[in-house]
Amino acid sequence: MIVAGFLLAFLLGSIPTAVWLGRALYGIDVREHGSGNPGATNTFRVLGKRAGIIVMLVDIVKGLLATSIAIPLMNLGFISENNLIIFKILFGIVAVSGHIFSVFLNFRGGKGVATLLGMMIAIDYEVALICIAIFILTLLLFKYVSLSSIISALAFPTILWVVPRFKTSEPLLVIFGFFLFIVIVWTHHKNIRRIIDGEERKTYLLKSRKD
Ligand code: G3P
Repeated sequence: MIVAGFLLAFLLGSIPTAVWLGRALYGIDVREHGSGNPGATNTFRVLGKRAGIIVMLVDIVKGLLATSIAIPLMNLGFISENNLIIFKILFGIVAVSGHIFSVFLNFRGGKGVATLLGMMIAIDYEVALICIAIFILTLLLFKYVSLSSIISALAFPTILWVVPRFKTSEPLLVIFGFFLFIVIVWTHHKNIRRIIDGEERKTYLLKSRKD
């Protein structure tokens, strides 16, 4: 049953929302436009606000549902209550991996940010909300979605590690959180290169201006 849970988490994470929605409703494959990334940011860029919001929400829900698979497994007695958090982390990591290596896209995929956010919400929604606030603040300051994604991925394990109010008693949560941060840095390596070269596209939340 636990193996079935992992398979389901991977399948959920693998759902290529941006590609399927773009093809079905707009006849456009977002991988052929903009940054080429099959994620919410590029959907915003290529297909507009409405499509971008739908992709973002579905990708968040993917991570949320996959991480929450641990709860019914615990209720059915397959996982002990003590191990709940560990399995939440593992199912979440599998879902993020599914998004990055989608079974429906020949094991290629997106950068994992929205799916990771879904996982964060399922694990600690208050810390997840702080990470969203940090994302918005970073975006307002620097105008790079990619940089905001990286900083918020770093914020999650850091807050759980050092902020007394949110400190976790589960060290594996912090360790895997930093592991996922490294994964997010890796999926954004081209964005990082473009930021250094001054070629990364900027996103203006408050002004409609194009670079
Ligand atoms: O979540 C992906 C985002 O951080 C960057 O996307 O399309 O600008 O490479 P993109």
